[in-house]
Amino acid sequence: MQIKSARSRVLTVVVSACAVAIAATVPGSGGAIASSRAADIESKVNALLAKMTVDEKLSQLQQMVGNGQDVQDAARAGKVGAVFGVTDAAQVNQIQRLAVENSRLHIPILFGYDTIHGFRTTFPIGLAEGASFDPSVGATDFTVGARESAAVGIKQIFSPMVDVSHEPRWGRIAEGSGEDPYLGAAMAAAKVHAGQGHDYGAPDKVLTEVKHFAAYGGAEGGRDYNQVDIPESTLRNLYLPPYKAAIGAGADAVMTSFNTVAGVPATANHHLLTDILHKEWGFNGLVDTDYTAVQELIPHGVAADGADAARVSLNAGVDMEMVSTNIATYGKQLLAEHKISMSRVNDAVRDVLRVKYKAGIFEHPYADEAAVPGKTMQPADVAAARAAAARTMVLLKNDKGALPLSTSLSKIAVVGPIADSDDLLGPWSGIGQRSDVVTVADGIRNAVPNADVTVTPGCTITGDGFDTPVNNCPEPTKPGFADVKDAASAADVSVVVVGEASGQSGEASSRQNIDLPGQQQALIDAVKSTGKPFVVVLVNGRPLTIPGADAASPAILEAWFGGIQTGNAVADVLFGKVNPGGKLPVTFPRYVGQLPLYYNHTRTGRPEDPNSKWTSKYADGSSSPLYPFGYGLTYTSFKLSNLSLGGSTMRPNGSLTASVTLTNTGTRAGDDVVQLYINDPVASLAQPVKRLVGFQRVTLAAGASQTVRFKLNRDSVGFYGNDGKFVVEPGQINVYAGDSSDAGLTSSFTVGK
Ligand code: NOJ
Repeated sequence: MQIKSARSRVLTVVVSACAVAIAATVPGSGGAIASSRAADIESKVNALLAKMTVDEKLSQLQQMVGNGQDVQDAARAGKVGAVFGVTDAAQVNQIQRLAVENSRLHIPILFGYDTIHGFRTTFPIGLAEGASFDPSVGATDFTVGARESAAVGIKQIFSPMVDVSHEPRWGRIAEGSGEDPYLGAAMAAAKVHAGQGHDYGAPDKVLTEVKHFAAYGGAEGGRDYNQVDIPESTLRNLYLPPYKAAIGAGADAVMTSFNTVAGVPATANHHLLTDILHKEWGFNGLVDTDYTAVQELIPHGVAADGADAARVSLNAGVDMEMVSTNIATYGKQLLAEHKISMSRVNDAVRDVLRVKYKAGIFEHPYADEAAVPGKTMQPADVAAARAAAARTMVLLKNDKGALPLSTSLSKIAVVGPIADSDDLLGPWSGIGQRSDVVTVADGIRNAVPNADVTVTPGCTITGDGFDTPVNNCPEPTKPGFADVKDAASAADVSVVVVGEASGQSGEASSRQNIDLPGQQQALIDAVKSTGKPFVVVLVNGRPLTIPGADAASPAILEAWFGGIQTGNAVADVLFGKVNPGGKLPVTFPRYVGQLPLYYNHTRTGRPEDPNSKWTSKYADGSSSPLYPFGYGLTYTSFKLSNLSLGGSTMRPNGSLTASVTLTNTGTRAGDDVVQLYINDPVASLAQPVKRLVGFQRVTLAAGASQTVRFKLNRDSVGFYGNDGKFVVEPGQINVYAGDSSDAGLTSSFTVGK
């Protein structure tokens, strides 16, 4: 990944438009450990394998959860290869001691965990990090998360989550980087590099397990765990690039997904796990399953029973079974029946042992319990979480400079059910503590200590979405939000904080209706009815359908679930200490009935035409988004000009530079994200109307200009066909530059033969 840090001070930057190409050329071998060390590890793996009984081998393929008696007994007996979900160093050590000191071969356990956007120091959710359009934000998160996880003995993290999704109904869109494969690939590579480093045996690094392989984000209807029915070209052009980039960056483990892909569950999918992952991409790391995914092959209808499920998953390329126990239970029987081979079992065991050696746990099986506090929630990390959160925020609307707010306001009403809520960590928030969270009201108090800050929720949120369903703002606390109106009337300005509870997005939290939950639109309308100034802050884990809020509100700041420092970061942006520069990593539709709605769709033979009934549109409303992919405002203004190409033709294997000038035409310093898109107007397969091939977040002083250069190559213009082959077809390529997917500057060149 050659995208330069946005903090670069150079005036001209060249952005590689080939994240995916780089991934294609670097085999997934766990990063750059020296070949002598790799050879040494391989010989240790083989020597250990030679000593193992069949039972011991099959036991290494079992991953268990928690620290219950079952796990302790298995550890002592050498009947488990990996354990996840234990987050306390003393408990990790206690289980590890059972395995290392009591089991016959003293093989250490690999401890894993869902460190998705932080372990204890919770960073913004993945979707928010996508909105930064700055891979260094993901890298900072993973640097901190890896250190905090490794400190307690967790050497495997089930992340990055890199599922591209066009489905805002799908709750897990919160975890990935949004709807674009190029952006997703850039974020994925940065996270892997940072979390795993070049050697995850290092004390502050961990094995990264990229997930969920593959195409989990394509869940039909946005319903979690649902089928994904896509052609090979869509699989490869849309969904696979971030996984490939992660593996190219060295990710040494992959988690299989729950879904089917064209009828074949990913966990039983030889095409995905062996043909593509191993043979095409050269991956030789660990293939782990998702939670009970082997067992679920039975209800999927591709396995008759547990033995059959073990057979199809192992033969497809699975190495390790999470939680369910079919491979360990039926492996011997399947060997005797010649339904699985000893060589496949040996390969799977090698994959497990290899990552254990690379993780350094044979040499250092135990966590240094005394060192944990010094590696956790360090002030610099908390400050980094605050900066990251501010960098992910997207200014969706700002009429007449409603924002930033003046720091000399004397009375501020913070209203709405999330005004003073500590539920800002978001889904899959590790061991993040609500007590560490700075609420929006707290952040505002910190920013303007002399102001009188009142908090009026107006309605409540109950339930956590896990044990109890979330009920978000079902009704006003007073009839007609009288308390909210009183607070707004008495204040100079109201900050209305609305959105989702964390349990409304994330796993198993798909929604049919993605409006502001409950009565929150009425709450905004109540504030508006006072005639006093107000701004809206959104907290959510997915695009919401908010045409009402957009119409009613002078300003809207998308803050997402920003982690422990959300409140301070919101205040940094509201009061102009930080000029917002994030951009939407996913399209915001107007109505749920427009879904799926995404910028990189292919053409139809009848593109929408307002003057013709017989075109691709809805009879009852627009098919345009409320806010498009790549969109976001700032407190300054920018102009893009002079899109020029370094030639009129590119050889199929050559490259071409596109350059464009960005000027800050406003009165304060700020960030813009320069985005480069292409379109191939005539191809053997209908192509996206636009396709992101480069981006660069640039900081410019007022009045300053910068030329941004993007390098285009075969990966920018080629695509995969339904035969699985990558082609670069000769002909015209249109180029678009802009600061959203509505990019207006255009040019074109020709790809030669
Ligand atoms: C199920 C989830 O799908 C996956 O993302 C997670 O890593 C595992 N559970 C383990 O917690």
